[in-house]
Amino acid sequence: MRQAGYREVFSIMPITHLNTIAEMRSHLEARRADFPGPVVLVPTMGALHEGHASLIRQGRTLAGKDGTLVVSAFVNPTQFGPNEDLEAYPRTLDHDQDVCERCEVDVLFTPPVGEMYAPDHSVSVREDRLSESLCGASRPGHFPGVCLVVLKLFHIVQPNAAVFGKKDYQQLAVVRRMARDLNLAVDIVGGETVREEDGLAMSSRNENLTPSERSAAPGIQRALQAGKAQWEKAPDTTVGILLRLVRARLEQIPEGQIDYLELVDAETLEPVSVVDRPVVLALAYYFSAARLIDNIEFGPERENG
Ligand code: PAJ
Repeated sequence: MRQAGYREVFSIMPITHLNTIAEMRSHLEARRADFPGPVVLVPTMGALHEGHASLIRQGRTLAGKDGTLVVSAFVNPTQFGPNEDLEAYPRTLDHDQDVCERCEVDVLFTPPVGEMYAPDHSVSVREDRLSESLCGASRPGHFPGVCLVVLKLFHIVQPNAAVFGKKDYQQLAVVRRMARDLNLAVDIVGGETVREEDGLAMSSRNENLTPSERSAAPGIQRALQAGKAQWEKAPDTTVGILLRLVRARLEQIPEGQIDYLELVDAETLEPVSVVDRPVVLALAYYFSAARLIDNIEFGPERENG
């Protein structure tokens, strides 16, 4: 027999799907009387997969039954470079609605581009320290675009917490820094990376891999794991040797090529020369029609003081 869902158990309203900022504001305001708990936002660009679903479930737990879980699905043009895949980015609204329904989302926000950006919009939001390296180096306008849209979504939804995946580790770090430096009253919560059975991090861009690239792609995470294993086995391995080992493993992957591979401080994203604190080994990797990113965390706990 089918188990009663959250909506039935708590006999609450069905998912609300809104497209305009004005409707969002009045709906969230009106909800507050009956649902005084935290408002939690999970920003996405739609094309939802199990990785998004896991963040959304985490958001549901944070919001609780008397809070409000909002998911935004908006393919944000300002974070795409001129030669990137904005037009080709998948748009799967019906599917996204189903996923949100199953994950007990209260409000799905899918604004059209014209609702989010005036044709002559002219304000930018830049984080200048963590955004320059890693993905920022090959995608110069990307993080300013992410900061702009995330800040706008925060103003529209006014969440108490927002959930971002560690798969996009740099994005999570940049958004955290923006929230800290702009004194935003929102907790930035990290969610674990969800992977396919063979270890490939879930991404809507995996659809663009050829069959032989798809079978080669799990080699990316295996190479990163080899780096972590080397550190666990011999914590005094120099960063140079560690990176060479991982690079050699990556070069054995029969398809594609490395964009970057770096070992950085987990908080500042500055390159490290010794693994004496939490670090992230992060990479971007080019296949013929998809650039994939992945990372792995390791290193000793940060010493206090
Ligand atoms: P999008 O790529 O749709 O990702 C939305 C959220 O899902 C991000 O926080 C991302 O880190 C997370 N995510 C993606 N794949 C994941 C996986 N395999 N496991 C866990 N989480 C995963 O990231 C964006 O959209 C945009 O830049 C956005 C923040 C919405 C701003 O436009």
